[in-house]
Parts: sequence; structure tokens; C-alpha cells
Amino acid sequence: MKNIKDVEKLDGVKVLVRLDFNVPVQNGIIVDDFRIQKSLPLIKYLSDKGAKMILVSHIETKDNPTLEPIAKYLNKLGVECVFEKNYKKALNTENKITLLENLRDYEGEKKNDKDFAKELASLADIYVNEAFPVSHREHASVCAITEFIPSYAGIQFQEEVKHLSSAFNPEHPFLFILGGAKFETKLPLIEKFISIADKVFIGGALANNFFKERGDRIGKSMVSLENFNLSRFSASNKILLPIDSLIKDDAVMDCGMKTVDMLRVEIEKAKYILWNGPLGAYETGYRASTLQLAEILSEATLRGSRTIVGGGDTIATIAELKLENKFTFVSTGGGAMLDFLAKGTLPGIEALEKGL
Ligand code: 3PG
Repeated sequence: MKNIKDVEKLDGVKVLVRLDFNVPVQNGIIVDDFRIQKSLPLIKYLSDKGAKMILVSHIETKDNPTLEPIAKYLNKLGVECVFEKNYKKALNTENKITLLENLRDYEGEKKNDKDFAKELASLADIYVNEAFPVSHREHASVCAITEFIPSYAGIQFQEEVKHLSSAFNPEHPFLFILGGAKFETKLPLIEKFISIADKVFIGGALANNFFKERGDRIGKSMVSLENFNLSRFSASNKILLPIDSLIKDDAVMDCGMKTVDMLRVEIEKAKYILWNGPLGAYETGYRASTLQLAEILSEATLRGSRTIVGGGDTIATIAELKLENKFTFVSTGGGAMLDFLAKGTLPGIEALEKGL
């Protein structure tokens, strides 16, 4: 992958920057600006070097998915950018920074359409991928575009690859903490990290599948219905499960405090900790164990352990506690983080490696 910082001359150069501004917006208000904050170092770098920027992103909200509030927010943060609905108008723009409307308004984006990618490429001299969280998608602005324009990895993008790759060759003891739901998306991670990590703690709804497999009564708890043949892990002494649970209406809603204490002991022993996903039903308000885990991990970071964390609800927890800077690295990725950890690469990385 070519590094944007290796481009010697950027003065007057038009740069198409693919960002991930897919952030929660309610009534035009940005609810969580973590990804926006993480885009600022690259925007500042390019601006200081005299480059002109065309910023592009997707956004998915239930109604009116527009990037207009993001443009307003960027201006509030001191990034003077002009919002442009019609991407063709950006062709001859004299603006220093332009933010184009939602890429997913165009059919070609999700289809990884070459003609659309070529049109996007024609807007600029070079392309930078600073959108790690969407780089697990084979979309035109992530993949096909690299065939038509010199392509570089952005600053945060490279940080993501560097820090997440450390999990493939970690310090030991290595504790992997995996929570959340959707067993089918997380199983490849258990399969991969059972051999790399020293302990794998499974929390959240994922644990219910293990409880069910060993014959525990799980009542109405959330569980993935497929048979994942989890007995193959039962011989491993690496898997740790919650030892107590908070039950409501016959369903497991959160880990109990004995489990948090057990995790605290494991965290104190570990030199490297990777955490993705909440330990309870976070979105319905069962947050106690997840909030405690975030605090315990931030303390471990202070003591010198390497802590790598990520995932949508995990970042929300960290933001709620204002702990964003208290870990070795906080990934901006959700699905992209999981895919990268499972496969060691992503379509967006491969596109940058193969591209112009
Ligand atoms: C994310 O939020 O994980 C990325 O922006 C990708 O979004 P998507 O799942 O809608 O492709």
C-alpha cells in the first residue's frame, strides 16, 4: 500500500478523499463524532500541504440519509468545506474543500461499477482511502476506483492496519474479549484466535450459544439458532464464559459482577487485550458490565498493557465514559474490524495494493 505521506508534492494537487462519515445523526445533530474526529488529521495534513480536497462518504440513516449535517459539523470544527449535492459539479471546483452528497445515492457505488468509479476518479489527481470502516465492502469508491487514479492509504487507515495486525503477533498473555450478538459473524474470530490468544472470553448474546450447547437452560435469552458445533471448543481450556448473569423476564440480559471480577483478574494478568462487543444487551440499557469493563481496561492501559478495542457499541461505551484516549488503540471499524481480524486483509486493502 502506498502511503499518502510519501507523496512529495501536494501543493495544488486535487485529492479525492474517501472517508467514513456514516455516523449516527438525530434531527440533524451528530450523536457520535468519533469517526469525524479521526478524519481530521488527514484533512489538516492535506490542507497544510496546499492540496485541494474532494471529500466523499456514504451515510445510512433510516430517513433522509444526507451528509449535509456532516458538512455543517466540519465547518463548526474549523474545516471550511462546501457541501455539493451534484458530484459532477465538483469537476471544476475552485473550492479548497468540497464534501459531496451520499455516495449511495448512486447505483454504481454498491455495485462496484467501473464507469461510476471512473467518473469519480476524473474529479481529482489522486485518491486516498481514509475509510477503513467501509473497506470490507467491494464498493466503487473503495475498490474499483483504484484502477483509474493513483491511490494511497490515509493516516487513520494505516493506523488501523498496524494496530489491528498486532493481534496476529501479540505479547502474551493475550486475552481476547468478544461480546455482542450475531454468532455467525463472530465465529470466524473465535476459530482464529483460539490458537493465538491465551484466553478467549465470550460474553453478550454469544455466550448463550455456549450455554445452550453445554445443556444449560437459557429460557428466552437471545441466541443464534444455527448449530455451530461448539462442542469442538469444549476441550479447550482457553474459553472463558460468564460465571453469573443478570436475568430479566427469563432471559440473560447482562453479565453479573462475579464475572466482571473474574475478568478483572484475567485483565491484570494479560499484557495484550483485544476487545470487541458489549457484554450485555447494551442497546436495551443493560450496560453495567460493559461500562465496568471499559474502566478496567483503561486502567490496564495505564499499567502498560496493550489494549485494542473497537465495534459500534464498544465505541459508544468508551465515548459515554470519555475514555477515547485511554486505550492503546480504538478502531473506527465495526464489521471491517471483525473481517480484518478474521482474514488479515480487506477488499479495500487489496484494491490499494493492486491499484495504480
Ligand atoms: C459501518 O458503519 O460499519 C460502515 O460505515 C459500513 O457501513 P455499511 O454496513 O452500511 O456498509
